[in-house]
Amino acid sequence: MNFVGNSDMKLKVLEDDTHIFVGRKKSIHEKYGIEGSLLFGKSLEKEKFGKLVHLDAISPHVIFICGARGSGKSYDLGVIAEEIITKNPNLAAVVIDPVGIFWSMKHPNKEEREVKDLLEWGLEPKGLESTKVFIPYGLKESIPKDTYDALFSIKPSELTVDDWCLTFGLERFSPTSLLLEKAIEKAKAKKRNFSIDDLIRVIEKDKELISREKGYSISTRRALLSRLEAAKSWGILSEEGTSLSEICMEGIVSVIDISFLEENVSSLVIGMLARKILNARKKVTRQASMKKYAMSDIDELLDVEIPPTWLFIDEAHTLIPSGGLKTAATDSLIEYVKQGRRPGCSLVFATQQPSAIDTKVLSQLDILITHKLVFEEDIKAVMKRVPTVVPDEYRKASFIRSLPIGVALLADRSEQSSRAFTVKVRPRFSQHEGRETTSIELDENFDEETIRKMIVELIYKKLQSEGRMPLRKLETLADTLKRRYKVKIETDEIIHYLVENKNCEVREGALWLGGKMPSYEEEALEEKSSTELSQKALPVLISEEKAKQIAEKRKKEKLLGLFGKEEKVKSIELVYSPVYMLSYSRKSERGSIPSRCFVSPDYELLFFGKKGLQKTKSINMLLDLSDKKFRVFKELRAAWLTRKQVQEKTLLTAQAAAKYLRELVGAGLVERKGEKYRAKNLDVPNDILSASFSLENVDLVKPRNAKVEEIKCNEKRIQSIPKLFGPAIIDSVDIVLLPKWRVTYESAGKSRIEEFFAL
Ligand SMILES: Nc1ncnc2c1ncn2[C@@H]1O[C@H](COP(=O)(O)OP(=O)(O)OP(=O)(O)O)[C@@H](O)[C@H]1O
Ligand SMILES: [Mg+2]
Repeated sequence: MNFVGNSDMKLKVLEDDTHIFVGRKKSIHEKYGIEGSLLFGKSLEKEKFGKLVHLDAISPHVIFICGARGSGKSYDLGVIAEEIITKNPNLAAVVIDPVGIFWSMKHPNKEEREVKDLLEWGLEPKGLESTKVFIPYGLKESIPKDTYDALFSIKPSELTVDDWCLTFGLERFSPTSLLLEKAIEKAKAKKRNFSIDDLIRVIEKDKELISREKGYSISTRRALLSRLEAAKSWGILSEEGTSLSEICMEGIVSVIDISFLEENVSSLVIGMLARKILNARKKVTRQASMKKYAMSDIDELLDVEIPPTWLFIDEAHTLIPSGGLKTAATDSLIEYVKQGRRPGCSLVFATQQPSAIDTKVLSQLDILITHKLVFEEDIKAVMKRVPTVVPDEYRKASFIRSLPIGVALLADRSEQSSRAFTVKVRPRFSQHEGRETTSIELDENFDEETIRKMIVELIYKKLQSEGRMPLRKLETLADTLKRRYKVKIETDEIIHYLVENKNCEVREGALWLGGKMPSYEEEALEEKSSTELSQKALPVLISEEKAKQIAEKRKKEKLLGLFGKEEKVKSIELVYSPVYMLSYSRKSERGSIPSRCFVSPDYELLFFGKKGLQKTKSINMLLDLSDKKFRVFKELRAAWLTRKQVQEKTLLTAQAAAKYLRELVGAGLVERKGEKYRAKNLDVPNDILSASFSLENVDLVKPRNAKVEEIKCNEKRIQSIPKLFGPAIIDSVDIVLLPKWRVTYESAGKSRIEEFFAL
């Protein structure tokens, strides 16, 4: 390979004659030297070409690896895990393996080319005998015994209500979830380490839960029971549970093979593991060693007594997705990276979709390794997160796109490194099972042109039947064929061809066939029951403290009208009112603009104005206007017009124009001054975009424990709101919770309730 990092920007690093050290403080280096460092690769920078690059492992780190398919991410995870175990016998490595490829670490590398490379590096192939492969407990009958070393399971009693809800896909405050919460409490009271069957029994038999007055409806109970029955087949829940000290062991690489599990269950497993590792390490580092052994419970001890651990997660985007989506792994991993450093918890995580990873986790990284990336949005997402300076020439998309397999741009946060630089990752000691076999022999020899045609045809056919194809899928397809037939074809080229020649369009991460794009009417939306409420909420920005002050102020205002009767704030509580979040897009000259807006169940738009969060007042009325009447109204929003002018602009007859104007004035929507008419100022933002943008930067959060009001409204009507402002396509409709402060005032035995938004 003759790739050279050609930046002229001066590169300063922590180094000696032959090594570069990354992620390390100078003081640590002076104390330890090469000890406790991981050989990762060689520098490809022209300035320090060929120097060995070592990553620090004395301090904990959050290392993020990204790159397109086949660029070398899983390979890197393997390299780092190999180094941890062979160089640092005091650490544990736990590799979460969603694809089922890391078991091969037991065997020495046998790829001819890599073995040759290893020898050139002065290294040699070796299998890591200390690799311990775990499979889910429930699969022990169906998987050959010689392909794994141990079983893992989770105790049902260790799962929180949130864990269950996220895995079941239940809204946190739905009746089913509330029943579950109660049932867990009751089961735990009976037996600390309860089984699923114990839980089921409680739901079936507990007097309170089944009582007519206090209990839950039969359908709610049935819904929960059927989910719990299904949970038995996940294959990971058992009363025994695997203690953490079986998984996190000094000098051992534990591979947790979750490739047999559904995505939601995988998230649950990882969430649990991350949470337990962090908690155990926190306890271990807090307690004096003698005290630890005074713990009475052996299980507890085995769950706590673990060494500093490096957790490796491949394909992380499915576990910690971005965009406010949440899995059962999200919260635990966020905490793990935020709090893990002090107790010695490191994370190495990899993805092919950096733009699809939860930014709360990304923001904690201190070492970033990026391989070749293809998509602009991914390149941008990564560049935003680089923890050091990136030379201009490396920032370009064309540079990141040109990185060969096994070559990466490496960046770290330590003061010692002045900028990001390029490295060639070292060959693996142990065997790496790539995802695809490469030994397929082909009878035919295709040329690039033929392959390209084949790909285009395949995609086009798919588009004709389905209308759209996600760009990711397209990349995978092109990539697979490319690798299989060893030709050089870029996904971008194919997309470009389809857009230019086949009437296709790229929108929201997918390729669409012209004419197949959904219009508003076509899109069928799911009905939402009023009780199954969302677990996403708008944040509480007005604290309770502040809310109290506001409540006091409002009291005094009222006092004047009450002729001196003292009004008291009796109580103040947070309540949630469900509102609709519409994700929609509208066309502009520059393409389509995706956005979202929030609509209250009384059909009014929410927006941030001078007075904080506000609600429009008259959209509800506008929704009832006929098309023609609405056309009149719209013209009058822009200017004062005479009836004649209205007539000209709307092409209505004189009679019709007069009638509509009369009715609009009657409805209080339009005012009249002499001959002229104008729409009243309705507290409606000028366009929906400004209303939407005013709430654009508000992140959705997990709701607090508070009352949730019922929602009753017509969803079709809600969806027609963005259309008032011009053609719009509704992409999705969600329910989110809007926090309000509810104040109860009391005076002379009478009480009065007032509410205001908590943001
Ligand atoms: N540093 C390297 N040295 C030699 N070969 C490498 C190196 N990195 C990657 N490869 C080769 O590239 C192939 C693909 O790498 P890897 O499996 O790590 O890809 P990946 O980025 O994880 O892709 P995917 O997204 O499909 O999982 C490997 O099987 C190996 O043959
Ligand atoms: Mg991989």
